[in-house]
Amino acid sequence: MSEQFDLFINGNWVSADETIEVLNKYTQDIYATVSKAGEKEVDQAIDSAEKAYKSTKLSAYERYKILKQVSELLQENKEEFANSIVKEAGKPLKQARTEVDRATQTFELSAEEAKRISGHGVPVEAAPGSENRMAFTIRVPVGVVGAISPFNFPLNLVAHKIGPAIAAGNAVVLKPASATPTTALRMARLFQEAGLPAGLLNVVAGSGSVIGKQMQQDKRISVYTFTGSAEVGLKLKQNTGLNKLILELGNNSPVIVDKEADIEKAAANVAQKSFAFAGQVCISVQRVYVHESIQDSFQQKLLQAIKELNVGDPNDKNTDVGPMISEDEAKRAEDWVNEAVENGAKVVVGGKREGTVYYPTVLTDVQKDMRVVCDEIFAPVLCTIPFHDIDTCIEDVNESPYGLQGGIFTKNLDTAFYVAKRVEVGGMMINDSSQYRVDLMPYGGVKNSGWGKEGPKYSIEEMTEERLIVLNLEE
Ligand code: SIN
Repeated sequence: MSEQFDLFINGNWVSADETIEVLNKYTQDIYATVSKAGEKEVDQAIDSAEKAYKSTKLSAYERYKILKQVSELLQENKEEFANSIVKEAGKPLKQARTEVDRATQTFELSAEEAKRISGHGVPVEAAPGSENRMAFTIRVPVGVVGAISPFNFPLNLVAHKIGPAIAAGNAVVLKPASATPTTALRMARLFQEAGLPAGLLNVVAGSGSVIGKQMQQDKRISVYTFTGSAEVGLKLKQNTGLNKLILELGNNSPVIVDKEADIEKAAANVAQKSFAFAGQVCISVQRVYVHESIQDSFQQKLLQAIKELNVGDPNDKNTDVGPMISEDEAKRAEDWVNEAVENGAKVVVGGKREGTVYYPTVLTDVQKDMRVVCDEIFAPVLCTIPFHDIDTCIEDVNESPYGLQGGIFTKNLDTAFYVAKRVEVGGMMINDSSQYRVDLMPYGGVKNSGWGKEGPKYSIEEMTEERLIVLNLEE
């Protein structure tokens, strides 16, 4: 018997005429049945958010208390949430548990930030003729935040949208990914238990294109926060006029292994960070540029580290690489690899698919214009690319249309800073791979990787407006 979930609108659990079936991504059995929001339910959700925003003013301390309680409840229910992520996303249990811990942090950080929202003094009295004035800014909420979250972190990337929005005093309409809506709906239960007033959080599951289109056209939404593909992000930007946006989009993340790297450390790190959650992370390592003088040694250590990865059932606490989100996605990865091989690339390990599971794959002899290199593969596929000099390597890194995060392994700090200053990314990791994120840091990219930053402190800036207040003190 599959679990049933309804939509969360205006503090009520609302059933819809239609439902969606959420599959267990490993067994492909039906894991849950979820009410599918249509136009009517989306409209109700936005309406209730707008009304709740206008009628319910929680103090900063009340917002802190609610978010803190959600964070605590999440930790108390850690196994339930981890299992929900394992089932609906196919994320291996140990990575799912880490995601719950991170989301706990994200809500705690959001709670703390609720108490720190403030403006600053503006010395208008320094302007000639304004000697008798005084000014300062305050930050005010924007109103209704429209949040659209992806399948790959069905809890923590929801937390990164809801936490800061509520902390800032807004109301939210969340559309979770249609492949993974149940974790977000479970999370709504925690907000209900923590006493969030009705209407401040609404969760509508259903078709991404239908709900997304309706949300984009609705003038009651002030700010959009979206994680997903660059293609959808661009449409959202084009369709939402002058609205503020936070867009976290794709990446084909580069990592440089310099001749002065700790090769063993770099290889072990890259093996972990390319294939975690089957490479379906925006900052998964996809392109590894290895100095030609250490290429053989790096490759050998990388293959050794990959051999130690356990592939298969995400319910097993020892599994490192589980299924992809769907068989179609696994087939797409397979097609891209086959296409590269037809054009001269070599598979050194992997290149094998069993249903939704695509085995960790390393390619060599790739070309810049192959999709496995120049597009975001979002699968457990890594390309190793030799380089001769660091400037050409930087040029190759920057040829990407994306620029979210990158990494460099080197013991030479001069090289590290030289590269960090020149690569076109939102964040550069030194002696770590691109896939480093803790939830308090500013997270966001340049070029096709996005617009605006996540991390509760930074999202709150996007989800509030700065208002200037000037006092005329003339007597
Ligand atoms: C993402 O895929 O953009 C999120 C990565 C993370 O939060 O670790």
